[in-house]
Amino acid sequence: MTKVLSVKNLSISVPSSQGRATVVDDLSFAIEAGKKVGLVGESGSGKSLTALALMRLIKSPVQIDAGQIFLGDRNVLSMDMQDFRHIRGNEISMIYQDPMSALNPIMRVGQQIVESIQLQSNATGRQARAIAVDHLASVGIPEPERRFDSYPFEMSGGMLQRVVIAIALSGEPKVLIADEATTALDVTTQDRVLTLIDKLAAERGLSVLLITHDLGVAAQFSDDILVMYAGKLVECGSVNQIFSQPVHPYTKALLDSRCDYTIDITKPIKSIAGQPPRPDNRPSGCVFSPRCEHAQPQCSASVPPLEFIQDRYTACFRAEDLFHIGQVN
Ligand SMILES: Nc1ncnc2c1ncn2[C@@H]1O[C@H](COP(=O)(O)OP(=O)(O)O)[C@@H](O)[C@H]1O
Ligand SMILES: [Mg+2]
Repeated sequence: MTKVLSVKNLSISVPSSQGRATVVDDLSFAIEAGKKVGLVGESGSGKSLTALALMRLIKSPVQIDAGQIFLGDRNVLSMDMQDFRHIRGNEISMIYQDPMSALNPIMRVGQQIVESIQLQSNATGRQARAIAVDHLASVGIPEPERRFDSYPFEMSGGMLQRVVIAIALSGEPKVLIADEATTALDVTTQDRVLTLIDKLAAERGLSVLLITHDLGVAAQFSDDILVMYAGKLVECGSVNQIFSQPVHPYTKALLDSRCDYTIDITKPIKSIAGQPPRPDNRPSGCVFSPRCEHAQPQCSASVPPLEFIQDRYTACFRAEDLFHIGQVN
């Protein structure tokens, strides 16, 4: 399979009382053409900063300390910013939780799509208008001719997110990053927007990185799952492996702490004891070890590498024995 996006050993830091604190730590993953990958983890685990790095939108005082990001075979981090501007929107696009942050509140939505089309092509005003109406139709906006002239405040959150998707896809990118893009929507609308992204991805062979703290959303949408904890990738693999047989104690704890009626309601919801570490106070060894009920001295002494076990990658020294004694599934 062709890798459209590869992240290699990415580290990102923020300012802290001790100087700088690492918030994304030696992160590596890849997305294959046409795959939908869910990036999950609690708030603060480094998901959004990872997404911003992919879009080259990391700004001081946050900084990328190490790593490479490849789109196809081009290293985007070493590319001239001037050159990267042609890539953003045309090869990789992103949508956010709040569609209003991507829209101009005082410009008609159709005109905003026209602007984005004209940035990426030589279409005339009339051609761009026709394409924009097509885009509105393709993201499922009813009466697209009429809706072209609506202002953002005249549309619902779900419709606005569709407009943002139309803009994000107007340059026909190969990769779409959706960072909590359905989090603010009610459940029904969330479902419809996810179904739309799914349909567009299938039609266009788009690869999607779906970032969410909602495991239900990730499970419904993704082919593969990446689980992040405190800046580290702790487990990754196919959605079935990860959600039906988690191996990493953090993944297991995250699934057990899910508050969702679609899973077995006879099972108690367990919260994960303790708190994720503050960026300036990261534990030594395995970052999850202070909260892990299976931790042993080795776990706080050194960092467990990601290893292939039970058909997925897991960074846990105890993965094999916990799996075999049935502790983690
Ligand atoms: N601009 C910033 N300045 C300082 N710290 C930041 C900044 N942006 C994010 N962080 C910190 O980096 C960590 C990762 O943040 P983020 O990537 O937003 O997490 P997530 O999206 O998983 O919730 C958090 O501890 C957050 O407080
Ligand atoms: Mg975030």
